[in-house]
Amino acid sequence: MRVGIVGSGRLGTPLGRLLAVAGHDVFFSDADPDRAAAAARAADGQAQGGKPGEAARFGEVVIMAVGWEAFPAVVAELDGTLTGKIVVDPSNPIGERDGAAVVVAVPGGLTSPQYQQHVLGDGVRLVRTFNTKYPNELLELGIAGQRGGARADMPYWGDDDEAKKAVVPLIEDAGFTAIDGGGLSEAL
Ligand SMILES: NC(=O)c1ccc[n+]([C@@H]2O[C@H](COP(=O)([O-])OP(=O)(O)OC[C@H]3O[C@@H](n4cnc5c(N)ncnc54)[C@H](OP(=O)(O)O)[C@@H]3O)[C@@H](O)[C@H]2O)c1
Repeated sequence: MRVGIVGSGRLGTPLGRLLAVAGHDVFFSDADPDRAAAAARAADGQAQGGKPGEAARFGEVVIMAVGWEAFPAVVAELDGTLTGKIVVDPSNPIGERDGAAVVVAVPGGLTSPQYQQHVLGDGVRLVRTFNTKYPNELLELGIAGQRGGARADMPYWGDDDEAKKAVVPLIEDAGFTAIDGGGLSEAL
């Protein structure tokens, strides 16, 4: 599957690597093009690096691995490119103040992915997953599962059943057991 990654930081880089190793065509992107290129080189698979708009156009599935507070601006920059696409949202409502992590209140009493769905618009097919592991843990558990070892559970949530079905093979190929957590209103 063609997977675009927007944000090649702590989470996007290892996640893209797991998918590239599994044989998916991965296109890394970042605000910093050098970071995207480095992630592609480190991916050990069929990977390339470029600009966020290119990754969004490339992906049948697009993973938004940018900070929670940057999410609306990144969506605006992508200028409708995500419409009709399956978007994977691993973002947690955590921001940074003076170098320290702080929990951000999600507006409107929504869950985090319900709010991201609101930001993305109704035409985007959101699936929330890959948000429950730290990056080093994700990589270690994923590699172990890919090599035939015990598989860790990876929950996923969404309101679009077909989009959820399309994301399950990515979760499994990344080395995890996909666990359906229900709709976006039930998401962690
Ligand atoms: N790290 C974790 O433990 C963890 C675990 C689970 C889920 N998550 C979630 O995963 C998401 C990413 O977290 P992270 O830890 O990987 O953050 P990160 O290391 O800061 O990576 C985010 C990347 O996105 C880039 N970016 C910012 N604005 C962009 C834009 N307009 N277009 C393209 N790229 C842009 C950032 O570039 P700059 O640095 O230049 O701004 C950075 O390289 C967050 O929502 C977080 O909640 C993280």
